[in-house]
Amino acid sequence: MALRSLVARMTLISTFMATTGLGLGQLRGFQTFSLPDLPYDYAALEPVISAEIMRLHHQKHHQTYITNYNKALEQLHDAMEKGDSATVVKLHSAIKFNGGGHINHSIFWKNLAPTREGGGEPPHGSLARAIDTDFGSLEKLTQTMNAKGAAVQGSGWVWLAVDKKFKKLVVETTANQDPLVTKGPTLVPLLGIDVWEHAYYLQYKNARSDYLTNIWKVMNWNYASEVYAKEFSSA
Ligand SMILES: [Fe+2]
Repeated sequence: MALRSLVARMTLISTFMATTGLGLGQLRGFQTFSLPDLPYDYAALEPVISAEIMRLHHQKHHQTYITNYNKALEQLHDAMEKGDSATVVKLHSAIKFNGGGHINHSIFWKNLAPTREGGGEPPHGSLARAIDTDFGSLEKLTQTMNAKGAAVQGSGWVWLAVDKKFKKLVVETTANQDPLVTKGPTLVPLLGIDVWEHAYYLQYKNARSDYLTNIWKVMNWNYASEVYAKEFSSA
């Protein structure tokens, strides 16, 4: 009887979720996350990044971060309801890693664009002027990011960011899936390059520096310029 009641309840919940589009977390009063669509086809960045890499990276890697982030948020919700502080603290690393993975990859997809849609075209306007002021030239900036990205030990990210407090561009790296905010609360990411092996190994093998050199051919500077202009005008 109890089992039948449970099955009926689960069926009702599933039906409600299917018809409303709400996730389990939202039904329980907290936000959960789902995989954002790529703004282009998987093959659109070829030959710089293969369709196979893009498909796996998006459908498998990013999805796994989201799945595990949602799981950790649900466990956090339960632990907070129970006043279980030990579990709340224990969940910190899973939330940082998987939530960071979701944040970072959501930015990364927007940082890239097919060449026919402006990918690789150099920045212009206020961002271009700021790059010249803070780094000397676009070429020097990309050399700096390539060197720092190549030097990341293990897995991580290299970022171009604007520091809202000092109104200055900076290059930073983060380890694993740490989001940029862990390097400073006033840092806003403009461009992030994923230097995990899953981002390039199928195509570039161990040549991370070749991947870094090529990725600028599909860099979406329009996106970076828009974020910069928005942050600078509100700084
Ligand atoms: Fe990645």
